[in-house]
Amino acid sequence: MSPLENSRNESKHVCADVTKQVPNKGMSRRGFFKLAGIAVAAGAASVSLPKICAAKDLSSPLPYGSIADDKFWRNVQNQFSIDPNVVYMNIGTTGSTPKAILESYSKYNELAAYHPRTFEAELGATLGLPAQREALAAQFGCNMDEICLSHNTTDGLDTIINGLDFQRKDEILITHHEHIGALSPLHVLRDRYGVIIKEVEIPVLKTESADQFVESFRNNISKKTKAILFSHITYKTGTRLPARELCTLAREHGLISIVDGAHGPGMIQLDFHDMGCDFYAGAGHKWQCGPGGTGILYLRNQGENLPKFWTQNASTYTFAVEPYGNKRGAFDIAYSLQYRGQGNIAAFLATVDACNMWEEIGRDKIEEYVCGLGSYLKKGLKEKFGGAGTFFAPDIPEFATGLTSFNPFDDIHDSTKIMTLVDRLAKEAGYQVRYTDFYLHVGDIVRAYALRISTHLFHNRTQIDGLIDALYNIYLEMEG
Ligand SMILES: Cc1ncc(COP(=O)(O)O)c(C=O)c1O
Repeated sequence: MSPLENSRNESKHVCADVTKQVPNKGMSRRGFFKLAGIAVAAGAASVSLPKICAAKDLSSPLPYGSIADDKFWRNVQNQFSIDPNVVYMNIGTTGSTPKAILESYSKYNELAAYHPRTFEAELGATLGLPAQREALAAQFGCNMDEICLSHNTTDGLDTIINGLDFQRKDEILITHHEHIGALSPLHVLRDRYGVIIKEVEIPVLKTESADQFVESFRNNISKKTKAILFSHITYKTGTRLPARELCTLAREHGLISIVDGAHGPGMIQLDFHDMGCDFYAGAGHKWQCGPGGTGILYLRNQGENLPKFWTQNASTYTFAVEPYGNKRGAFDIAYSLQYRGQGNIAAFLATVDACNMWEEIGRDKIEEYVCGLGSYLKKGLKEKFGGAGTFFAPDIPEFATGLTSFNPFDDIHDSTKIMTLVDRLAKEAGYQVRYTDFYLHVGDIVRAYALRISTHLFHNRTQIDGLIDALYNIYLEMEG
């Protein structure tokens, strides 16, 4: 009996169902609804809400997309074990893993404990999670040799930025709203090698068309420019950038395109080939709701002008039969990045299960629902505050996301008021949101502040109505 067969046989004694899943493509595509009991739970009670959320008429259609099937979404919401005494609206920072995925994660961990080595053998001698990467490739519009699991967005960005072949005085264009996950490795390039990092101003208050973003980048391209880097969805305001158009611009000028996709996977549908980016670093734990310490990393490995790239944090490089240098296209570059020494394979497997669960619910449905709730929130705030307050991302479907940024106060530069509001919303009304700070324009020295509210598939309109009421009441008290 081979070690693989042996391990499967033995593991039947502890968690036979898991051993069936490991060598295959995670859970079967149809597995999670059944496992999670969504079908049987049809019509079950909705999530418990803080007292402040008085139920309102839910029959009116949402202004963005069709979110008619409340029963369906209640069943989805029942798959999460979030504390019913709070309404958690900070998915942009950390997601919440569904119950079924927690179960499978725990079973994978049990199996790993039972078979410390043969658990890895279940994945094949390559340890390259081939079936799992194949499943991800089908879901994210790319080839299997272009996608792997990373440890988080920061790790993915680090892998990309430090793997590229930048020289002194090369220029990288970025937006003025990038996250430290991208800025840190970029600043290392700047300080270590003399690479120039140039901020491009993107619209914040008057966002009207994709052209504004494209023109901002186009106007800053010079002979020295080698790459552009931008957030697909900025964490500061929640604006969705026109990724396809920006990647086309990069291609037209022979530039490398790098996308910080922390808020992409699990919130919106992604097709990397269609987007045309060279690199995309996403999170597995935020909107995709996989276990912590997971990410989804894409590297284009087909077509023309593949950027020179070194897989410097891949632990297969030294052991390659033939040194592969920075050859691209000829070998499975994603495989070599997948294997970085001992890792949390149980978390990777559970993240693929979460991805399969999202497929089963329907990524198109999820995007419509999540962005629809964002639009519902914006409209509700506008109504409640009678048009007062500042929105930092427009309610236009093209730019829509599950992140809404809003400041109700006249002085958007007052940090104390926003911090107090975040604090009081949590303590007095049970709504957990966060604030962000940012510059409206390149060169500003005073920051603007906004509440950042995440809407995800485990929320509903009643909760959003409750948040708007709570926010308004606290605002009135604060403004005397
Ligand atoms: C735009 C952006 N990039 C990168 C990160 C870092 O993400 P992670 O925690 O997955 O490393 C974040 C985190 O919030 C983010 O918002």
